[in-house]
Amino acid sequence: MTVTVRAPAKINLHLGVGAPRADGFHPLVTVYQAVGLCDDVTAESSPGWLLDVTVPDWMDADAVPVTGDNLVDRAARLLAGHHGIDALASVSVAKAIPVAGGMAGGSADAAAALVALDRLWQLHTSDDDLLALAARLGSDVPFALLGGTALGTGRGELVEPVPDQATWWWVAVPSGEGLSTPAVYRRFDDLTPDAPAEPEGAGAVLLALSTGDPEILAGALHNDLEAAALDLRPDLGDLLELGERCGALRGLVSGSGPTCVFLAESADAARGVAGRLAEHHEVVLVTNGPVAGAHVVTYG
Ligand code: C5P
Repeated sequence: MTVTVRAPAKINLHLGVGAPRADGFHPLVTVYQAVGLCDDVTAESSPGWLLDVTVPDWMDADAVPVTGDNLVDRAARLLAGHHGIDALASVSVAKAIPVAGGMAGGSADAAAALVALDRLWQLHTSDDDLLALAARLGSDVPFALLGGTALGTGRGELVEPVPDQATWWWVAVPSGEGLSTPAVYRRFDDLTPDAPAEPEGAGAVLLALSTGDPEILAGALHNDLEAAALDLRPDLGDLLELGERCGALRGLVSGSGPTCVFLAESADAARGVAGRLAEHHEVVLVTNGPVAGAHVVTYG
């Protein structure tokens, strides 16, 4: 038996961050959008546990942990433990989402692994239990299960779908070197000692989504982690300006970065922006959203 599950990257259209809570996590009000850059996780029956990761040429394979602390290992142990069974499977991850890029690639892999292994092991885990297991694996993992466009609260793990009828076109420029999410949050704390307990609300983005107008959404995009990411990586500021000069409506650091994403007026406009950015950057990806969360693509 083989099951392949596909899970999407995310962009935070709004990322409001508050002062750290007692547990060290930051309260968030975020609007996630799942976009069509996806990782595929394939699980097969096996007498032991095996994990293998393949990456495209442009990605640094060494940046992906493969020995026991990959989020896929943790997802398998958590799901197996929840049902009191042994985690026996051969799992391969085919990555297309930038590693350590602020697009929740590891979270997508964890979500895909939960769904794939639930099918392979025929566990019939309820949606509520899968979402709860996902939240234990990482703040962004529940959203990778849900997909679409969603409001995230708590530390990002509490997700509810929001209406989003349009198709939004994005250009993503990954960075050769990743940024550590905890390091970006620490820099946010240094730069924002007076952060409010309640993060900034997402009203402007939710309203913009309802108009379907990319110019209005461009004006509403907001990321409280952007200043911290730019402080750690000043080159990203140049990239954001370049993308806007290349015709993007707006450039934004994705989540904690360093991937920068650019909202374009249309599919054609996105291809134009990407073509111009490709004169300066080796890897430039065109994608759109919203797309589905983790879902089975082959089974049998
Ligand atoms: O939840 P996840 O494992 O993705 O978080 C990675 C790290 O990012 C956390 O250990 C924490 O340092 C930081 N983080 C945070 N507040 C959040 C989400 C993540 O401080 N809401």
